[in-house]
Amino acid sequence: MYWVLIRDATNEDWPEIWSFFRVIVAAGETFSYDRDMPEDQARQVWLIEPPGRTVVAIEQDGGALVGTAKMHANHGGGAAHVATASFMVDPQHPGRGIGRALGEHVVAWAQAEGFRLMQFNAVVESNLRAVQLWRLLGFEVLGTLPQGFHHPVDGYVGLHVMYRTL
Ligand SMILES: CC(C)(COP(=O)(O)OP(=O)(O)OC[C@H]1O[C@@H](n2cnc3c(N)ncnc32)[C@H](O)[C@@H]1OP(=O)(O)O)[C@@H](O)C(=O)NCCC(=O)NCCS
Repeated sequence: MYWVLIRDATNEDWPEIWSFFRVIVAAGETFSYDRDMPEDQARQVWLIEPPGRTVVAIEQDGGALVGTAKMHANHGGGAAHVATASFMVDPQHPGRGIGRALGEHVVAWAQAEGFRLMQFNAVVESNLRAVQLWRLLGFEVLGTLPQGFHHPVDGYVGLHVMYRTL
């Protein structure tokens, strides 16, 4: 497996995160964020405060920042034991196991924090790489909102809710 170190994100990491965050969001294929989301808003959405956490994946060989994930409680009150997370891997480094390393890290974090379930709220059905990766990490599709996402190429596609117990 391609070797990445995963550590907490710092403010100094933001420019490198933004370099691919904006590309992924502008493509409009995987996230339900506005495609022209301004940088300030993106930073606020992505770099979250404890008890949530944002991490980055750093290439061992060269030190480049190649991916990021954020994780936090999905709900409050009586459902506060349900976690969620979001992921972005630099599109210049696809299919090298970075997403898997981040996913495994996030699941381990949620287990260590005492969450009982993890839920992904909006996984675009046509995002086959993500759907497959989450399945490999033990998630299943709970249901699909038909035509829940307007993909710029595929048109209206389903939005999966995926979950696993921890
Ligand atoms: C989804 C994403 C995080 C995956 O990251 P990645 O580093 O490319 O993924 P990995 O290299 O760890 O691959 C994970 C698995 O995907 C599967 N996969 C790879 N390419 C695939 C493809 N084209 N179709 C189906 N499955 C595929 C493989 O089974 C792989 O598993 P393996 O480790 O057993 O080979 C990344 O593509 C990304 O950031 N996409 C844009 C943003 C996004 O979609 N975020 C998630 C929203 S739910």
